[in-house]
Amino acid sequence: MLSPTTKIAGAGVAAGDAAAGAIDSNSPTDREAISLSNKETVLEAQDLGKEVSSPEGPLAIVREVSFQVRAGESVAIVGASGAGKSTLLALLAGLDLPSSGRVLLAGQDLNSLDEDGRARLRAERVGFVFQSFHLVPALTALENVMLPLELAGRRDARAGAREALEHVGLGSRVGHYPRQLSGGEQQRVAIARAFVVRPAVLFADEPTGNLDTVTGGRIADLLFDLNARSGTTLLLVTHDRDLAARCGRMLVMEAGRLAPG
Ligand SMILES: Nc1ncnc2c1ncn2[C@@H]1O[C@H](COP(=O)(O)OP(=O)(O)OP(=O)(O)O)[C@@H](O)[C@H]1O
Ligand SMILES: [Mg+2]
Repeated sequence: MLSPTTKIAGAGVAAGDAAAGAIDSNSPTDREAISLSNKETVLEAQDLGKEVSSPEGPLAIVREVSFQVRAGESVAIVGASGAGKSTLLALLAGLDLPSSGRVLLAGQDLNSLDEDGRARLRAERVGFVFQSFHLVPALTALENVMLPLELAGRRDARAGAREALEHVGLGSRVGHYPRQLSGGEQQRVAIARAFVVRPAVLFADEPTGNLDTVTGGRIADLLFDLNARSGTTLLLVTHDRDLAARCGRMLVMEAGRLAPG
C-alpha cells in the first residue's frame, strides 16, 4: 500500500515535467521524498498475471508482465491477435482483476480497492475506449458522452459533451442513437466519451481500427493533442503501425508476455 499522498499523483499529471525539473534542483532528501510519493509514475504493472479456465484447462493469458509508465507518456501495445493485449489493458484500467501481481494506477494499488473504489478511481482518472465501443444503446450520442461528466458531477455536461463530439467531427450527429451511427462514428463517440473528462490516463483498444485513413489520422491527432496539451498519458493497443510509431514507446506482447527490449 502506498501512502495517501500518492493519491494526488493524477492531479499532478499535467505538471509532470515541471515536477521533474524541480527534482534536479532539490536536495537528495527531497528527491527521495518525491520519488517515494511516486509522483511521476502514473501506472505500474508488477508481475501481472491472468489465468482463465478454458475447455482445455487453466490458461495463462497474461504472464509476468512488469513495466512502468510515467505521467505524460504515450505507449503503444502491439502484438498478434490473441497475444493478450485487450486482457492486459483491462487489468491496467481496473476493469478486470489479475490472478497474480498488482497494478498501481495514479498511486493506488488496485488490489486494495473494492469494486466501488475501483469504479470511483476509473471515473476520476481513467478514460477507456473499448475494442467494441460499449455505447449505451438507449442513449443518444450526446447522452452517451454526457454520462461520465454527469458521474463526475459536472453541471456543464451538455455543453462539454457537445464540444467533445464536435472535436471528433460528429457535431451533426449528436441526437443519433448508436444503431443510427456507422461503426466509425460509434468509435468516435466512444473516443469523445473517453476523453471528455480529461482523464489522467486514456486507455484505447484499437482506437483507429474501424476508421478510414483520414478519420483515423484525425483521431490520432486528437489523442496526441490531448497528450501534448493536457498531459494525458496514453496507452494504445493498435495494429496500426503509423499510430504505434507516433507513440513515445512500444511494448510488444507475445503469448501473454512482454517481449524483451
Ligand atoms: N474469459 C476468457 N476465457 C478464456 N479465454 C480467454 C478469455 N478472455 C480471453 N481469452 C483468450 O486469451 C487470449 C488473449 O485475448 P485478448 O483479447 O487479450 O487478445 P488480443 O491480444 O487483444 O487480441 P486481438 O488483437 O485479436 O484483439 C485469446 O487467445 C483469448 O481467446
Ligand atoms: Mg484485443
